[in-house]
Amino acid sequence: MLRAENITKSYGALHVLRGCSLSITPGDCLIVRGRSGAGKSTLLRMLALMEQPSSGTIHHDGKPYRFGPGLRPPHGILPSASPYPLLTVVFQQLYLWPNLTIAENISLVTQRNRYAPLTEIELAMLDRLNISEIAAKHPHHCSLGQRQRATVARALLTQARFLLMDEPTSALDRHNRTVMAAALSEARATGRGFLIISHDERDFESVATSTFELDGGVLRPL
Ligand SMILES: Nc1ncnc2c1ncn2[C@@H]1O[C@H](COP(=O)(O)OP(=O)(O)OP(=O)(O)O)[C@@H](O)[C@H]1O
Ligand SMILES: [Mg+2]
Repeated sequence: MLRAENITKSYGALHVLRGCSLSITPGDCLIVRGRSGAGKSTLLRMLALMEQPSSGTIHHDGKPYRFGPGLRPPHGILPSASPYPLLTVVFQQLYLWPNLTIAENISLVTQRNRYAPLTEIELAMLDRLNISEIAAKHPHHCSLGQRQRATVARALLTQARFLLMDEPTSALDRHNRTVMAAALSEARATGRGFLIISHDERDFESVATSTFELDGGVLRPL
């Protein structure tokens, strides 16, 4: 389980998060909306323990990581009892290795070997997200929407139990949004948990188990 408890985050005098709490259990799909600059990506980084909150507690699989004045930041992330990684992130900036093809970007993560041919399951995922034709291309020769689908495919093909996705459909047309929502819905049905940041009000309506708006540093259920 992933849980954020009363998280605050300030950058100097800028108070971005003012006490945010949420939890994601297997099979959940939380959607977070909010205007540009509201702090959505910041909240995602806190939840993934990629950046330290100013105060509050992040729970990973029930283990609390506490932050605040006078508290010493935790040293690294404790090992989990599960054989599967806890989480993976699709960043708003995507982060594909520019010197590798899309297929290599996937196999390096999923098989830890950029030279390994994609498996049938991996090829089927590319086909499903309509990106088979870019497998041999480098990211800078792909459209933004194709790179977005490749990054989501890579995340879905990991064995991570929770997937945190920051605007994974911002460059997609309606058809590809629907295709992606269906792929996510299927993954959710197998017990994976999702947190998806999305601007588009109609996106992921069919997949969401709860929807929040981040406004004024506070998360409100919609
Ligand atoms: N490392 C940082 N140092 C200083 N300010 C930061 C830092 N990271 C984010 N901010 C500020 O925190 C606020 C929230 O940023 P964040 O990227 O979380 O917004 P967002 O809701 O994801 O916006 P968008 O929808 O445009 O992606 C912004 O005002 C941003 O300038
Ligand atoms: Mg953002």
